[in-house]
Amino acid sequence: MSESKKTRWYKDAVIYQIYPRSFCDSNGDGIGDIRGIISKLDYIKDLGVTAVWLSPCYKSPNDDNGYDISDYRDIMDEFGTLDDWKEMLAGLHERGIKLIMDLVVNHTSDEHEWFKQSRSSVDNPYRDYYFWRKGRGKDGKKPPNNWTSRFGGSAWAYDDATSEWYLHLFTKKQPDLNWDNPKVRKEVHDLVDYWLDLGVDGFRCDVITYISKVAGLPNGKFNPIQCGDEMFTHGPHIHEYLSALNNEVISRYDAMTVGEAAGVTIEQGLLYTAESRGELDMVFEFEHILSEAYFSLLPKKFNLKQYKAIMSKWQDGMHGKGWNSLYLENHDQPRALGRCTGDYGDKRKEASKMLAVALNLLQGTPYIYQGQEIGMTNCDFSPDEYQDVMVKTILGIVKKYVPFLKPVALKVLKKKARDNARTPMQWDGSEKAGFTTGAPWLKINPNHTEINVAEAEKDPTSILNFHKNLNRYRVGNQTVKLGSYRQFDKNNKKIYCYERAHNGKKLLVVCNFKNAEVPFSPPAEYNGFTAAAVIQNYPTARTLSPFSLQPYEAVVFEVDC
Ligand code: NOJ
Repeated sequence: MSESKKTRWYKDAVIYQIYPRSFCDSNGDGIGDIRGIISKLDYIKDLGVTAVWLSPCYKSPNDDNGYDISDYRDIMDEFGTLDDWKEMLAGLHERGIKLIMDLVVNHTSDEHEWFKQSRSSVDNPYRDYYFWRKGRGKDGKKPPNNWTSRFGGSAWAYDDATSEWYLHLFTKKQPDLNWDNPKVRKEVHDLVDYWLDLGVDGFRCDVITYISKVAGLPNGKFNPIQCGDEMFTHGPHIHEYLSALNNEVISRYDAMTVGEAAGVTIEQGLLYTAESRGELDMVFEFEHILSEAYFSLLPKKFNLKQYKAIMSKWQDGMHGKGWNSLYLENHDQPRALGRCTGDYGDKRKEASKMLAVALNLLQGTPYIYQGQEIGMTNCDFSPDEYQDVMVKTILGIVKKYVPFLKPVALKVLKKKARDNARTPMQWDGSEKAGFTTGAPWLKINPNHTEINVAEAEKDPTSILNFHKNLNRYRVGNQTVKLGSYRQFDKNNKKIYCYERAHNGKKLLVVCNFKNAEVPFSPPAEYNGFTAAAVIQNYPTARTLSPFSLQPYEAVVFEVDC
């Protein structure tokens, strides 16, 4: 093992996620691109973030918007060229901003050269890069096991060329790589090394907990919706594969990793992220968004008591051992406004600022998803306006097997569809929201006439300016970075109140999650202390004494003790 170069800079970072397809289009084709990102580098800098996570921008036939990669070493035609990418990286680095790339190596595209070779014959040298099996039944026309794709339907596709089936945990165009093959692991090491050598600062590792499958690919426990999870989630060699990737490649650079980890528990989270083990630096757990995974369709009502219990479990469990990632939004989740706040009515600004305070002062690295900083909301789609392959797959299955359930499915999708988060970034109030001059690839939310960056920049009380101040407050603040965590009044279903304490300084964070006034009294041990309110989302002066919180009010007190 080489000596680690890690400085763990990510502990001081605030990361901004860019979904390039929807960020900014520079050439009028309706699709965001890298030159569009380059045109917004000053905006990103001004936001006060210190790193960018860029969703996949590699060559891809775009069955799943870039999460199906056909060439890991080049840039998608729609997004530009490798030279554009290098210019973007240099522009970020000049501004002191790091770049995290998406690493999608559980699967490739079926248009990747490895898969083209692999499917061509049973004795092709690439055959074993993927999972090929004979089917069940007399004629082999039944899939090899009962595993289901995360998007619905069997996880196996039959291929006429060799009369065998291949595994795909996502769409048919995303065949799973066989990590048990050492050649596959070597390919991944090499491509990670390629990007690190080009100067990237880390990776967000897509569905990384799925890369090791139980030998023999046995049937999973029967479940009417989703089968097989226990046969490929946190599989038998996962820790071995991740520590090899880290020890042999990543730790030779000052780079960070965050693993997408649907279904991960705190115990498993610690195995992945404990600094002493050297696997990943952070995981994206899914418990706190109260949905088992981005593909889980059953919407669950936001329950503050449960949310607080989950956040507290991760705060306490990781403290001093691993490191948390703090997020409410990304390209797979509907927008947090509404989802975590209930009906916010005319209090969009207050609710959005409150959510930012409640999350971003916890211990961990905050992630802000594009548009979250201006309070973008879900969008009303008609059925044919959805573009996401997951939505299309689900509607296809409903049509085929349970057509009478279509109205229910559409109702659920309104709340849960991933397209909600993927509508183009709202830069201004003009017809195409300043995103493009052409026909946008996905509907622009009609509320862009009011909710947009240009308006927010003019308004000193905007969500955008609030985020900028919050980021500046947070970056470099030792109490926020290192402080202990303690929750007060855990049974309170309306208020989230917690403390961060470090070296004689305390922060008391008080957030009202309701669109109503709620009485608040500081915890007893704060009696007799005076404090300054250092962050507030209402102009009303607040002191450390009982008062009535206004709808979605958030206040942070700084106390010297
Ligand atoms: C997780 C990504 O976030 C999601 O967008 C994608 O569909 C799946 N992984 C498959 O790569």
